This record gives sequence, C-alpha cells and structure tokens, in this order.
Amino acid sequence: MHSTKATSAVPQPVHELRRFDEVADELLDVLVEMERRAHEASEHYDTAPWQRENFALDLPGKRELSLVATVSGRPAGFLIASRRPDGTHVHRVATDPRHRRTGVASGLIAAFLARTPGVVTLVCDAGNRPALALYTRAGFRVTGTTPEGKLSLATGATTHR
Ligand SMILES: CC(C)(COP(=O)(O)OP(=O)(O)OC[C@H]1O[C@@H](n2cnc3c(N)ncnc32)[C@H](O)[C@@H]1OP(=O)(O)O)[C@@H](O)C(=O)NCCC(=O)NCCS
Repeated sequence: MHSTKATSAVPQPVHELRRFDEVADELLDVLVEMERRAHEASEHYDTAPWQRENFALDLPGKRELSLVATVSGRPAGFLIASRRPDGTHVHRVATDPRHRRTGVASGLIAAFLARTPGVVTLVCDAGNRPALALYTRAGFRVTGTTPEGKLSLATGATTHR
C-alpha cells in the first residue's frame, strides 16, 4: 500500500532574511531599482521613489534593524527602520512586484517585530489598501493622522476612532 503526503499545490518561494548592514553596500543599487519598480507598480506608495541617498542615510539603529528578504540569493523585498525616542519607526516596506502576494512583506514584518521590543510605528497613505491590510494583519492599529493627512499606525495600540 502506498502512503501519500499532502503537498501544497503551488510551491511557495523560500525567503531568506538578511540584516541590512550585511548587504547594504553590495546591494544598494539593486534595492534602489526594486524601489523604483515597486513605486511604478503601486498607487499610494509615496510621491517619489527613494534614491540611493535615502537608503544610505545613516539613522540610529538603521543598519542593524532593517532587513532584506532574498529569494534564491536575490533581493525580493526590504524593510527599513530606525530607532526614535518613542520606539522604533518603519520608514519603508516594499516587495519586488514579481514577488508580491508570496508572503515576503509579512515575513519581513513578522521577523522584524519578533526582534524589536517596544512600540513600532509607521505612516501609511489611507488609500494604500494592500499595505493597510498587511499592517493590520501584522497587529498594527491606526493611532491618528499626520499633518500631511496620512495615517499613523502603531503596534500595541487600540483602534483610533
Ligand atoms: C504592500 C506590499 C509591501 C505588500 O507586500 P507583499 O509581499 O505582496 O505582501 P504579502 O504577500 O506578505 O501579503 C501579506 C498580506 O497583506 C495583504 N495584502 C498584500 N497585498 C495585497 C493586495 N494587493 N490587496 C489586498 N491585500 C493585500 C493580504 O492580507 C496578504 O495576505 P494574503 O496574501 O494571505 O491575503 C507590496 O504590495 C508593495 O511593495 N507595495 C508598494 C510599496 C508600499 O506600498 N509599501 C507600503 C508603504 S506604507
């Protein structure tokens, strides 16, 4: 008699996570290009894609806290964060359009939250439904609105009314 193992119909790519400081110098241009394509493929991401100097800008804790997801050794997404007096702030999360909906961003956020104690904050355009769904599922809640009219979100917060 044969026994069969249940297998997933669609194999999911394996993501590996690297610390930003391990790959930043080598992969900066690749990240800039991914950011450009992510921006081009998205509504409500930001007014302009980040450039080299934005990724390279030195901020407290940024190089240790930020993460790059790779698939078969190539970058598939990133999360850029830094320390602020009131917690840790996520500046940027993006997935290469070719790898969307495969769990890259949720994997980045889950790993980031697991290694980041305290409150984590971020800002998101109210029209960015994919990102809001992602953040809500990860445990972020809306805490208010920025002067520019974007939504502020935080972990460990109750829903803003
Ligand atoms: C938002 C973004 C980072 C999501 O990345 P991703 O790797 O595709 O996300 P995941 O595969 O981990 O998705 C996790 C969950 O987020 C939600 N989600 C992601 N994309 C979505 C979409 N297009 N529509 C609705 N929900 C979506 C879903 O709940 C999804 O879970 P599911 O696939 O099991 O339904 C990606 O679309 C992106 O790079 N957008 C441009 C950059 C951006 O807007 N960043 C956020 C700035 S605040």
